[in-house]
Amino acid sequence: MTQTYRIAVIEGDGIGPEIVTAARNVLQAVAQRNGLSFEFIDAPAGASVYQKTGQALSQDTLSKCRDADAIIKGPVGLPSVTPGVVEREVVLGLRQDLDLYANVRPIRLYSCLKDQSPLRADKVENGVDILFVRENSEGLYSRQGLKDDAGATDVSIYSQKAVDRILQYAFDAAKSRRKKVTSVDKANVLKTSLFWRERFQEMANAHPDVQTESIYVDAMSQYLIRCPSNYDVVVTDNLFGDILTDEASEIIGSLGLGPGANLNPEAKTGMFEPLHGSAPEIASSDVANPIGMILSMKLMLDFLGQPDAGKRVDQAVQTVLEQGYRTADIVGNTSTSMQVIGTCRMGDLVAAAVLV
Ligand code: IPM
Ligand code: MG
Repeated sequence: MTQTYRIAVIEGDGIGPEIVTAARNVLQAVAQRNGLSFEFIDAPAGASVYQKTGQALSQDTLSKCRDADAIIKGPVGLPSVTPGVVEREVVLGLRQDLDLYANVRPIRLYSCLKDQSPLRADKVENGVDILFVRENSEGLYSRQGLKDDAGATDVSIYSQKAVDRILQYAFDAAKSRRKKVTSVDKANVLKTSLFWRERFQEMANAHPDVQTESIYVDAMSQYLIRCPSNYDVVVTDNLFGDILTDEASEIIGSLGLGPGANLNPEAKTGMFEPLHGSAPEIASSDVANPIGMILSMKLMLDFLGQPDAGKRVDQAVQTVLEQGYRTADIVGNTSTSMQVIGTCRMGDLVAAAVLV
């Protein structure tokens, strides 16, 4: 019997609808190829919804998301809405409501994109393959800050439960990889980081088969550039993870390439979204790179227990890139022959490669 998955779809704002359409086309191809079926449930949310209704995430969308097997989420937010309103309601709202505490962001350099990296060839010759595990439920993101004319404040809170479960996730992930975990904190200044570092040390003691290290976030932002191939699993707090994953995605060629999964191994559902924002300046012009969104579908298929299908998506992306197809953000100055294509064509080509 064909397995049917119920997928809530938040198209989002700006380039969201275009990249989500590309990702859905790829999923349709996967369904055909692997004998799966997807029921897509439209779940509107974001700045354009907020402008129409005064609410960025309605109860109806929230319950569709809660009931779905997985959620596809395009980027949300528009410059016409005060920063933070939509992000807090939709992105943080869903992560917190569904308790998706692990934000998992694999950053891998395709060898055919080596000359797209802003780093010198010798810095990336050993490849880049980092699994960022970002704490997604607490830290500076857990509370609404306060602001008035005299100043403003934000509070960072880390409970032992939140720290331990994300560290555990990272160590588990490392076991099926290169068995190294780097923890990133700012323990020389922040109490939350000091606590995090102590819990990390404890977890490291319990996993002698895993190589471990703790690095301050300022140093890490430098080491990532100096020697990105040193890192396997990087576990860090909510804000540091947000910043370092944008940095890392640039190292592999473009922010447009980075996928993300918001997970809780015990939750019924997961949410899958690219790293980047809604890029309204290039919306509706068919130039956005859909690969971060498409690779998020690979993570979704893995989560749904369909790793063969997930692998097929990954390989299809690689094939299309190896054939020399590029969106505008990954053209750079390269000697190899390339063809610059739009969002829609990139989606179609990946879908076609899935069917081969
Ligand atoms: C991300 C984004 C979000 C975050 C914003 C939109 C709230 O930057 O997913 O990386 O800070 O987590
Ligand atoms: Mg971010």
